Amino acid sequence: MSKLRLPAAGTIEVAPSILSADFSNLASEIAEVEAAGVKMVHLDIMDGHFVPNMTIGPVVVAKLRKHSKVVFDTHLMISDPRKYAKAFVEAGSNHITFHIETVDDPEKFIDELHELGVTCGVTLNPETPVESIEKVAPLCDMVLVMTVHPGFGAQEFIDEAAKKCIRIREIAGPGVRIEVDGGINPDTVSKAVSYGADTLVAGNAIFNKPDRAKAINDILQACNTL
Ligand code: DX5
Ligand code: ZN
Repeated sequence: MSKLRLPAAGTIEVAPSILSADFSNLASEIAEVEAAGVKMVHLDIMDGHFVPNMTIGPVVVAKLRKHSKVVFDTHLMISDPRKYAKAFVEAGSNHITFHIETVDDPEKFIDELHELGVTCGVTLNPETPVESIEKVAPLCDMVLVMTVHPGFGAQEFIDEAAKKCIRIREIAGPGVRIEVDGGINPDTVSKAVSYGADTLVAGNAIFNKPDRAKAINDILQACNTL
């Protein structure tokens, strides 16, 4: 199990999403963004059931762990996260985010994740109301606000969904990170930050660019341009 921790709230962090990376070369793709200075990478885990796409499982995460020293921010887009969370932690995930739509007793699951020694996140789809996470958001280390419908990269940023960050910041307070995921690029990121997001997932805007370090820097530079 890896001892890496999610950075404490209060800084802006970019979390490159591997969904748009070259899956035949994941270790070197991650090494490239790591060399650019990111503290975390976003692992999109899909089961073909909760979302209409599939990616990787714990076996691949364990192999990647040997090649990387940054936080594995693991976004479980799977129907039964309780069944698989431990396997991802044992594989080297440092942070586990689950969808509120998939868990009956989220408070219990948050406790279980903390007992496994990782930080914990809850997320909600664009159509899921903020009320669904009001009770549990303050118990998490990070809340992930989906700004696209999960399943695919390179979709268009949904501003209405991003606005949930404003209410979530009120509920969760300053000590919880707020992450946005989907359609983040230099044109959209300042809106998300203005709503209170501090953790910025970007796949297409980084891995589909030839110079990943520049792409990350372009996102950071654009954060305060609204
Ligand atoms: C969507 C995933 C995201 C997404 C981000 O299902 O959770 O992490 O792929 O990719 P971009 O930045 O391309 O929208
Ligand atoms: Zn994601």
